[in-house]
Amino acid sequence: MKIKDFEGKNVYVVGGSSGIGLSAAEILAQRGSNVILFARGRERLEEALEKVTARRKNESQRFTFKQLDISDHEEVEKVMAEAVEGFGPPDILINSAGRALPDYFENISYEQLDESMKLHLYGNWNTIKALLPHLKQRRGYITNVCSVVGFVGPFGYTDYAASKFALMGLTEALRSELKPCGVGVSILCPPDTDTPGFEVENRNKPPETAAVSEGGGLMRPERVAQALIKGMEKGKFVITPGSAKMIYVLKRHFPWLVDYVMDREIRKLRKGKAAS
Ligand SMILES: NC(=O)c1ccc[n+]([C@@H]2O[C@H](COP(=O)([O-])OP(=O)(O)OC[C@H]3O[C@@H](n4cnc5c(N)ncnc54)[C@H](OP(=O)(O)O)[C@@H]3O)[C@@H](O)[C@H]2O)c1
Repeated sequence: MKIKDFEGKNVYVVGGSSGIGLSAAEILAQRGSNVILFARGRERLEEALEKVTARRKNESQRFTFKQLDISDHEEVEKVMAEAVEGFGPPDILINSAGRALPDYFENISYEQLDESMKLHLYGNWNTIKALLPHLKQRRGYITNVCSVVGFVGPFGYTDYAASKFALMGLTEALRSELKPCGVGVSILCPPDTDTPGFEVENRNKPPETAAVSEGGGLMRPERVAQALIKGMEKGKFVITPGSAKMIYVLKRHFPWLVDYVMDREIRKLRKGKAAS
């Protein structure tokens, strides 16, 4: 399944008030789509709506937002039903809500694990569940935003990796199930990307986690969003922007090498610490 033209399409961007979701919404506005943004915080949604509207291609496009916490499935059903009624049914759903709070396993609380699963697995499940009848009817498209940490489990990401691996499993099974219905499915796996979310992620990052991820570089969210749009145009299942592509290939064919490089970085860091 490929998207030939974004013009006139109704695009639901969940997590669209910031970072990768916002960048995708801005590009889609430029490409002529009608865009509705979803997130919890009203202030950032209002600011994002202004930015997205400013990128419109023509006057007939429609833009709006709705406040939503995707971890609450009853709220998701209610808010999505209102969105379908007021804005129009979706042709494309982009699920970009998420966050990472890396730490040592011993420091990660049950509540943090619960929140990660509710956000990355249940949350995406909830939005898809609420919108799938419309997406099937319109032979639409779903893209879930995962991470490199959806196929590699690096130091410090135990709860995040568990929830993103789960999202990978959900999305892979969904791809197979929805292909005969004419609904396209992609999963975007970005490397480190310079977003407000990444700034929060860095506040408490264990030094080992920073050492392991340093080699992958830092992408601009606009570049990641461009890769996302291009991936949907090509109907690619796994979309791997920047260094994610090489990591994906290495992990599939030489998983021992990925482990070796990560372990080596941690060893070097600890040796350096012991010597100083
Ligand atoms: N940045 C990176 O380095 C990176 C790398 C790989 C993968 N990713 C993934 O890319 C996605 C976007 O990340 P980002 O860096 O762009 O983050 P961001 O700048 O923090 O944006 C996250 C968005 O999700 C929304 N959100 C968070 N929790 C939500 C909830 N419970 N219900 C509804 N909306 C919610 C946020 O708004 P509110 O807080 O107001 O709800 C915001 O709009 C995430 O899934 C992340 O895991 C990011």
